[in-house]
Amino acid sequence: MSVHAVTKRLTAPDIRARKNGEPIVALTSYHAHTAAIADKYVDLLLVGDSLGMVMYGFETTLPVPLELMIMHGRAVTRGAKRSLVVVDMPFGSYEESPAQAFRNAARVMKETECGAIKIEGGARMAETIKFLSDRGIPVMAHIGMTPQSINVYGGFKTQGRLRDQWALIEEDARVVSEAGAFSVVLEALAEPLAAKITKTIDIPTIGIGASAACDGQILVMEDMLGLSPRVPKFVREFGKVGAAIEGAIKLYADDVRSRQFPMPENTYDVKD
Ligand code: KIV
Repeated sequence: MSVHAVTKRLTAPDIRARKNGEPIVALTSYHAHTAAIADKYVDLLLVGDSLGMVMYGFETTLPVPLELMIMHGRAVTRGAKRSLVVVDMPFGSYEESPAQAFRNAARVMKETECGAIKIEGGARMAETIKFLSDRGIPVMAHIGMTPQSINVYGGFKTQGRLRDQWALIEEDARVVSEAGAFSVVLEALAEPLAAKITKTIDIPTIGIGASAACDGQILVMEDMLGLSPRVPKFVREFGKVGAAIEGAIKLYADDVRSRQFPMPENTYDVKD
């Protein structure tokens, strides 16, 4: 007897088919409850390795271990029923060889039940993208400013602001597309370059600090909620969740100190 899922989950080919179509709405997500809320409105949830900075307070994404991505990936696939869930491969888990990437990505897919993985890097990762895609692992590529290479850039730096940098970045986009990636994140890229790449490659571009012309957009959920203490220039805060949390905690602290909590309706009576 077969068991049919009640809700159809979006797949990597569904996202791929959105090239030049309805814009793809994507957000990062690291835990089950917010994934369930976002799932009503977005097409794709990325369990980004940015969780190392957002949830764990690291300065960069480099210290994040594979096991942490798997734990958070599981939480998000449990919370979201409709969106495609993509799990980021953390620094050191895929760069060595296509075989290393396959071993770790297969583990991520088995243990989280996500629908795809993401890796950073352009032309240098083409062989790995093809290796994984040919073996059943859909790959989202990530080019432009790739945070795992922060020590090479010397900081989180916008890419492609000088026109003589364009050719290499355009080549990265073309090569990951031809290698079989189902979509590509363009991060912190000069706007006209991101728009040009979107026009010229066959797979959807998902912009973050790139261009409104991209086939979709992604933001770190905590940044757009107004929960992150510092955000990059390209982030628009769509909410004030940090202020709401602080307000609620202050009310609670005031009520405890003035013995207003718990109130009678929050306590248990004796059963006679
Ligand atoms: O780790 C992450 O959250 C990401 C997005 C910013 C694209 O890679």
